[in-house]
Amino acid sequence: MESLDITCLLLFFSNLLILGASSSQDHNQHFLQCLTDQFQHSNLDPSNVIHTPKDASYDSLLHTQNRRPASTFPLRPLLIITPYHKREIKAVIYCSKKLRAQIRVRSGGHDYEGLSYSSKVPFVILDLRNFRSISINTKDKTAWVEAGATLGQLYYTIARHSKTLAFTAGVCPTVGVGGHISGGGYGMMSRKHSIAVDHVIDAKVMNVDGQILDRRCMSEDLFWAIRGGGGASFGIVLAWKVELITVPETVTVFNVSRTSEHNATHLVHRWQYVAEKIDENLLLRLFLRSFVSPILGKRTIQASFTSLYLGRVHHLLPIMQEKFPELGLVENDCTEMSWIDSVLFFAGVRNESLDILLNRNPPRRPYFKGKSDYVKQPIPINGLKGIWKFLHEEAEIRAELELSPYGGVLSNYSESETPFPHRAGNIFMIHYGIAWNRPGNIALEKHMNWIRRLYSYMAPYVSKNPRAAYSNYRDLDLGMNNEGNTSYEQASVWALKYFRNNFNRLVHVKTQIDPSNFFRNEQSIPPLLS
Ligand SMILES: Cc1cc2nc3c(=O)[nH]c(=O)nc-3n(C[C@H](O)[C@H](O)[C@H](O)COP(=O)(O)OP(=O)(O)OC[C@H]3O[C@@H](n4cnc5c(N)ncnc54)[C@H](O)[C@@H]3O)c2cc1C
Ligand SMILES: *[C@@H]1O[C@H](CO)[C@@H](O)[C@H](O)[C@H]1NC(C)=O
Ligand SMILES: *[C@@H]1O[C@H](CO)[C@@H](O)[C@H](O)[C@H]1NC(C)=O
Ligand SMILES: *[C@@H]1O[C@H](CO)[C@@H](O)[C@H](O)[C@H]1NC(C)=O
Ligand SMILES: *[C@@H]1O[C@H](CO)[C@@H](O)[C@H](O)[C@H]1NC(C)=O
Ligand SMILES: *[C@@H]1O[C@H](CO)[C@@H](O)[C@H](O)[C@H]1NC(C)=O
Repeated sequence: MESLDITCLLLFFSNLLILGASSSQDHNQHFLQCLTDQFQHSNLDPSNVIHTPKDASYDSLLHTQNRRPASTFPLRPLLIITPYHKREIKAVIYCSKKLRAQIRVRSGGHDYEGLSYSSKVPFVILDLRNFRSISINTKDKTAWVEAGATLGQLYYTIARHSKTLAFTAGVCPTVGVGGHISGGGYGMMSRKHSIAVDHVIDAKVMNVDGQILDRRCMSEDLFWAIRGGGGASFGIVLAWKVELITVPETVTVFNVSRTSEHNATHLVHRWQYVAEKIDENLLLRLFLRSFVSPILGKRTIQASFTSLYLGRVHHLLPIMQEKFPELGLVENDCTEMSWIDSVLFFAGVRNESLDILLNRNPPRRPYFKGKSDYVKQPIPINGLKGIWKFLHEEAEIRAELELSPYGGVLSNYSESETPFPHRAGNIFMIHYGIAWNRPGNIALEKHMNWIRRLYSYMAPYVSKNPRAAYSNYRDLDLGMNNEGNTSYEQASVWALKYFRNNFNRLVHVKTQIDPSNFFRNEQSIPPLLS
């Protein structure tokens, strides 16, 4: 075996950037060699763990839910590693440092900009799909969840143990807890039970030196940072310990839709005054689309009030009658079910067994772009009508606004309690999403242009200075780091939107824990340069 010469490798690197494919193979060989050596030293079996571009498994592992990021990031990973053991992860850190390749950590792979599986510089994917065990302690009402588990798997496992325990996090079952919890984690119970990070009580993180830190041996600062500041800037999250919440045995769901002809505009306007203040057991989420009504035989706006009430229908109806009679909710619109069945309901799954929650493959959305905003003052009727015009413009494809109410217990946390700063004072969050099937630049530019124009149209109606955004809905339009040299000022352009005044403390933690900026991507927290 040849010995690895670092100077020589650096040479390969600069060649690589110029020559592309041909030298990428050399780089690939060096990484593979380094990793194989490390595995041998530790008696680890590389089969089914290290996937090279020659393996059939490489292509299927690379297959992603959203193909749009590939247009920004044409480079393919040197290797894909799917570890079973912590020592394998440590070996990947070792070789990445030695060969100066980046690591992209992937848990569920739902990153909006694909940063968990793409990069502009040579990189490997560390895919944690095999790191997904979950242990539930029903007595303590806690759970240890490994980072590669999905939300669906977590919900499923809790439900197997108890009818009245649950966890508060996102709606889509294929989202990974590694990325999701480190960025916040909003879901249908967030007005009553807040977001996922508010229920993290311990964690295991591998740092740049390959050491595993739990809460006892990590600084309070680091434990604070990973609960909303994103894991990718600070290390590799191996597992979370979370506290479970208690839910009633029976909850109530409804999904009531109204078109423009049935007062949708007026109802959406009114909703802004209701949804944030109503009983915190009730979360009225609102979806807005343009569609052709088969009944009306014409195009119209459809507003769907997709809702969860943590209680029985006979308690829900009087609340709606008192606070939101305009919607005209009746008992027939409502269905009582267990919390775990409501998980399936909101995931849009009908008549399937619970096992579907264990499926890791996300729904296919060939090309997708999302953005977010926070709203602090109700949007006037005229403002809403302008949104309807945008929705009609992209009516043929899936363009949608999702309005998620805040208030309730979310307002009881101070802005600095965790890096997730969007607390009191926010009425709701807007998620703008557009998905299309047609490949190529013409479609890409058309739809990106649409969502960017909509975003600038919305400026007068949403939060300002900074115009806040949810970091889990990653948006590279907000700004990007320079590769390898990002100043505090540069990063503050996008980071103040995600983290507001928590950005400074995140920079401080980063400077302590990873001063050489080993863990980085296009939107990672930069260390202060010494
Ligand atoms: C269809 C869909 C539905 C969604 N629904 C919701 C919702 O209801 N509520 C909500 O709040 N959000 C929602 N999101 C956003 C989601 O929370 C984020 O995309 C989240 O980051 C995904 O986590 P992941 O592990 O699947 O992603 P990944 O792509 O694996 O990771 C996302 C980021 O975290 C980093 N990362 C991942 N794992 C680790 C780790 N173990 N250690 C360190 N860094 C890590 C990655 O490198 C990357 O930067 C949704 C997204 C999609 C695509
Ligand atoms: C629409 O709202 C107005 C004002 O609240 C009300 O008078 C009217 O009856 C509603 N129309 C329908 C179809 O619900
Ligand atoms: C709610 O209803 C709308 C309109 O019919 C539909 O598009 C949407 O998928 C439904 N949502 C859920 C969670 O069933
Ligand atoms: C679900 O199953 C029930 C009973 O098997 C059936 O009556 C109903 O039509 C099914 N619903 C859907 C949406 O398939
Ligand atoms: C949240 O704060 C409000 C107002 O201070 C208080 O009435 C309510 O009980 C708090 N809720 C929780 C769950 O702490
Ligand atoms: C980093 O960027 C700053 C400004 O963007 C520049 O002044 C500096 O020279 C750069 N440093 C390196 C090492 O490239």
